[in-house]
Amino acid sequence: MKIDILTLFPDNMNAMLHESILGRAARRGILELNCVQIRDFTENRQRQVDDYPYGGGWGCVMMAQPLKSCVDHVLAASEGLRRRVIYMSPQGRTFTQQRARELARDFDHLVLVCGHYEGVDERFIEQCVDEELSLGDFVLTGGELAAMAVADAVCRLVPGVLSDAACYTGESHWDGLLEYPQYTRPESWEGREVPEVLRSGNQAEIDRWRRKQMLLRTREKRPELFARFEPDEADQKLLAELERDARRMHLTEPVTCRPATPEDLEAVALLIRQARNYLKRHRVDQWQGAYPDGTDAAARIAAGECYVLCYAGRVSATFCLSTAPEENYAVITDGKWRSDGPYATLHLCAVEAQFRGSGMADRMLRSAEELALAKGVAAVRADTHRHNEPMKALLRRCGYQFRGHVLVEEPIFDPRRQAFEKVLRT
Ligand SMILES: C[S@@+](CC[C@H](N)C(=O)[O-])C[C@H]1O[C@@H](n2cnc3c(N)ncnc32)[C@H](O)[C@@H]1O
Repeated sequence: MKIDILTLFPDNMNAMLHESILGRAARRGILELNCVQIRDFTENRQRQVDDYPYGGGWGCVMMAQPLKSCVDHVLAASEGLRRRVIYMSPQGRTFTQQRARELARDFDHLVLVCGHYEGVDERFIEQCVDEELSLGDFVLTGGELAAMAVADAVCRLVPGVLSDAACYTGESHWDGLLEYPQYTRPESWEGREVPEVLRSGNQAEIDRWRRKQMLLRTREKRPELFARFEPDEADQKLLAELERDARRMHLTEPVTCRPATPEDLEAVALLIRQARNYLKRHRVDQWQGAYPDGTDAAARIAAGECYVLCYAGRVSATFCLSTAPEENYAVITDGKWRSDGPYATLHLCAVEAQFRGSGMADRMLRSAEELALAKGVAAVRADTHRHNEPMKALLRRCGYQFRGHVLVEEPIFDPRRQAFEKVLRT
């Protein structure tokens, strides 16, 4: 790609154009970038490039002759190439990423003409210019900044300038969306954390999160762009998910945790039933047999092991925490427990449907950990079915590590469970 920028101020621009990525690409011969002095093409002794406007008015207008001679000069060197003469103008079509793509794809030689003063003689535009491009609906002193912007945006799309096409195909405006948010080290900065998913190492989940963020932030930041965007089937699914996310309950009042009483049994049993149905709908073979039912919850309440989280006076989540050694955890395969001291075991965790995604589940685990510490144990263990993705995600998010596999009493369905542990204090 060859780009000639015709200007009255070539020196300042040359320095900038030959820096960094574009400069390196030019040195490697992928780009040829020149800034050409229009004044060198005047035919008067004073090297005058402008004159008063016919009809009166403010300022001066650039004369057609030096501009045309300058254009002819640069075009003479690119016979046979695909060429385009572009006048940078506030009256032109607004420059976009789409236009940058087309210019990079369809032409080998771009001539960018920078006006100054009140602009250029209209007859030059009529005779020599293929297209007018504007940087936006505002007026600059000269076309130089606009030409630099066009040259930069076009050049980075020329094959070989960036190390990989993926460097620009994922960026804002490539497919009508804005790019997802970016983070770098450190993980925690001034109390703000890098989103957990980006640290998970699960590339499929990261890609999904990023695409959702692209949709979300385009809709929020640039609604007019979003209105023109045509989502495919996969994007439509993500948009439906975003709708569901938006409907999720936001916790604005304090959540309290207390031991469950026999009066809570009905509410606890309801939460457990909801969780069973949820797992069934998602084809997870956990809690689909005899366990758990109301009697399990009643026994835990009687033993003082069942707790409820209340929000706005309502039971909204429940869990059981036992410090008795768990028989099923005596044998663990494919790994081992991290702690060998006393531990607490989490059982019967359930969050009311309308609180899913609200942070209630995370509070539930935090409450369980506080209780465990208060009971003098420094590790919490839990198990879940390998297909119970929400529970696994919750445990991981809250710092629990996968430790191996355990077996639970399960006469009909798969008895294997993934075992997790969090050491609270070493
Ligand atoms: C002060 S402006 C002239 C504006 C002109 N009198 C008008 O009202 O349309 C001088 C030069 O700056 C450049 N320029 C100003 N605003 C621009 C924009 N938004 N995009 C591209 N070039 C611009 C053009 O090359 C123009 O000839």
